[in-house]
Amino acid sequence: MQTQKTQVAIIGAGPSGLLLGLLLDKQGIDNVILERVTGEYVLGRIRAGVLEQGFAKLVREAGASANMDAKGEVHDGVEIAFNDTRIPINLKELTGENVIVYGQVDITRDMMEERAKRGLETVYEAKNVEPHDVKSDSPYLTYEKDGETYKLECDYIAGCDGFHGVSRKTIPDNVKKEYEKVYPFGWLGLMSDTPPINDELIYAKTDRGFALASMRSKTRSRYYIQVPATDDVKNWSDEKFWEEFKLRMPASARENLVTGKSIEKSLVPTRSFICEPLQYGNLFLVGDAGHIVPPTGAKGLNLAASDVATLYKILTRVYKQGDKKCIEQYSPIALRRVWNGVRFSWWLTDLLHDFGDDKDEFDKKMERSEIEYFLKSPAGQKVIAEQYVGLPYEDLK
Ligand code: FAD
Ligand code: DHB
Repeated sequence: MQTQKTQVAIIGAGPSGLLLGLLLDKQGIDNVILERVTGEYVLGRIRAGVLEQGFAKLVREAGASANMDAKGEVHDGVEIAFNDTRIPINLKELTGENVIVYGQVDITRDMMEERAKRGLETVYEAKNVEPHDVKSDSPYLTYEKDGETYKLECDYIAGCDGFHGVSRKTIPDNVKKEYEKVYPFGWLGLMSDTPPINDELIYAKTDRGFALASMRSKTRSRYYIQVPATDDVKNWSDEKFWEEFKLRMPASARENLVTGKSIEKSLVPTRSFICEPLQYGNLFLVGDAGHIVPPTGAKGLNLAASDVATLYKILTRVYKQGDKKCIEQYSPIALRRVWNGVRFSWWLTDLLHDFGDDKDEFDKKMERSEIEYFLKSPAGQKVIAEQYVGLPYEDLK
């Protein structure tokens, strides 16, 4: 078995792992990333598109922001529609902040390229990655690559390996508690090289179910419709998708819809999931490895970024000031923001989706009243806006 050594071993080269790795490197903290699949495969996963300014600031600090700042689109507002009624939420006026529309694939590629440029080690196609002795002062990972077994010794392990990764499973069942809510619907997403239907995103609640009009650029659209969780992409030809999507857009926007051939189509399951705690010995869970939100509200990727921000501050303090005790702050600080994001995503999902027969007449009246209150009063709009642009990051004590 060949042995390697690093300070922070990172499992997973998704956005969390790549961002953490670049930031740590800026502080002179050595790190190696082990990724189960190829870089190409990672970039084939079309996911989020809306970045909070907190995330963008971190990407700048990490030194990977040139494309994001040149090509990302700043959005000062977002629309919420109820059938044909469109309600603009002016994020900038309500909060002084905005969001950046820039795809997860693009930000991931930018960080991957920056990592390669700096000569930082990423082992792609690392099989059977396993954390060991995470409660001790000398944890390590083992993995296989091209038929060889390797040992990677380290001080800390960052589990950035997504929902299905190995990190969370390393925390014993009698230590962790998992909270989960699975929704009865998924989002069917379609990407096409067509101009977006509207300048701002439209989150639409309709009698036919939820739809979201998003974009990647002036020439690329990303659209979603709510479908039953048991549905299959195979049931949806492009024509059928366009027909349904158009009917879920407010009438005044429909005439702007340009349809075209899809370049990607996929079904995203929706769930809320949180693991507590997010730290076990010298192992930390970061991003989707520790929590998942339904996509309404675009919080998944942004919560991953706030975890990274907290862990980055902690590891910097550990290595610069020798304060090992501060690692205990990771889980409580990260979880406070996670629970806020989980609550916002759950609330917006509940407000905008069709739950079929799950809601009785009384619940439906309550829903209507909630919509009137939150969307028609400036105070209600502000509550939505400040969460959509993202709550501030908490500092260490
Ligand atoms: P991931 O992006 O999942 O990265 C984890 C990485 O770890 C992967 O590259 C994986 O291959 C690797 N890995 C896993 N297991 C191992 C192992 N054992 N060993 C080594 N490596 C491993 N959020 C939004 O805000 N809007 C959206 O529209 C949206 N759509 C989504 C659609 C889907 C299908 C999914 C799954 C998520 C979506 N999200 C969305 C959420 C958002 O994409 C995630 O929050 C974000 O990807 C989290 O980044 P991450 O780096 O923590 O995890
Ligand atoms: C996108 C996805 C989301 O979940 C969301 O809330 C907004 C935008 C997107 O893929 O563009």
